[in-house]
Amino acid sequence: MAALQNLEGQVIFLTGAAEGLGYATARTFAREKVRLAIVDVQAEKLAKVAAECEADGAEVLPIVADLSDAAATTAAAEKALAQFGVPRLMLHNAAILNERSMSDVTFEQWRKEVNIIMQAAFLLSKAMWQPMIDAGGGSLLYISSGSALKGFLKEVAYTPAKHGQEGLMKTLAMEGKPYNIIANTITTGIAINTPMSAGHYSEDQRARWVDPALLTPAYVYIARQDLTSYVSGERLDAWQMSEKIRSGELV
Ligand SMILES: NC(=O)c1ccc[n+]([C@@H]2O[C@H](COP(=O)([O-])OP(=O)(O)OC[C@H]3O[C@@H](n4cnc5c(N)ncnc54)[C@H](O)[C@@H]3O)[C@@H](O)[C@H]2O)c1
Repeated sequence: MAALQNLEGQVIFLTGAAEGLGYATARTFAREKVRLAIVDVQAEKLAKVAAECEADGAEVLPIVADLSDAAATTAAAEKALAQFGVPRLMLHNAAILNERSMSDVTFEQWRKEVNIIMQAAFLLSKAMWQPMIDAGGGSLLYISSGSALKGFLKEVAYTPAKHGQEGLMKTLAMEGKPYNIIANTITTGIAINTPMSAGHYSEDQRARWVDPALLTPAYVYIARQDLTSYVSGERLDAWQMSEKIRSGELV
């Protein structure tokens, strides 16, 4: 299975595409003229993104779904599989970050955040798993965070959920190896200007945040890679990779 020179006509499945990093990622893949299945809970914004991506040259399937809901999550994956076929890349980007300490958080609040990040990573990968095996392989990629490596105050849900994605990825990388299914996580590697950041960043972080579009070359690069030889089971860094792509060090 050789590395792809271009992604035209390939299926990309992307969550959290209505705004922020997911929006920038959708627009970048659209310019590659992929078949793009985009999922988000914000229906109006998703429809607008879909129209923009179609204007960029992609074939787009917008799927409105609340990824905190298990049945809706599996249904979103099945809809994309039925209409577009097996994705080359399943990129789980959607997340919420509600800062709450242990004293304040309710179980329902905790569960919603964990479900969007962690349960959805599992359910989307589960729905794609056998189809990817049957298709000869596929790439699973979850957006990671500094919160996947260490704890932060008031992140009693976000931090364990991001840690959990890392564990799922490592196990799926091992189990996927015989089937050419690769699994990785990818952290932002730099402060990014998104609605999530606007609600949580300090003045200092806002002073140096960058446009999330600067991270998206890394995702396209990963989607192009040979599934039989590209890294699997790794935590990648989107900023570092994208900088190397811009400098020509990574081609
Ligand atoms: N912003 C940062 O500084 C930062 C840092 C490290 C990692 N990340 C990660 O990057 C990814 C993107 O973050 P962002 O800053 O663009 O966030 P954002 O809040 O700006 O965008 C998140 C997107 O996910 C969607 N979403 C939220 N809940 C959903 C649900 N229940 N069902 C379906 N879609 C839902 C939102 O509608 C939105 O379009 C996340 O995984 C986040 O954890 C962000």
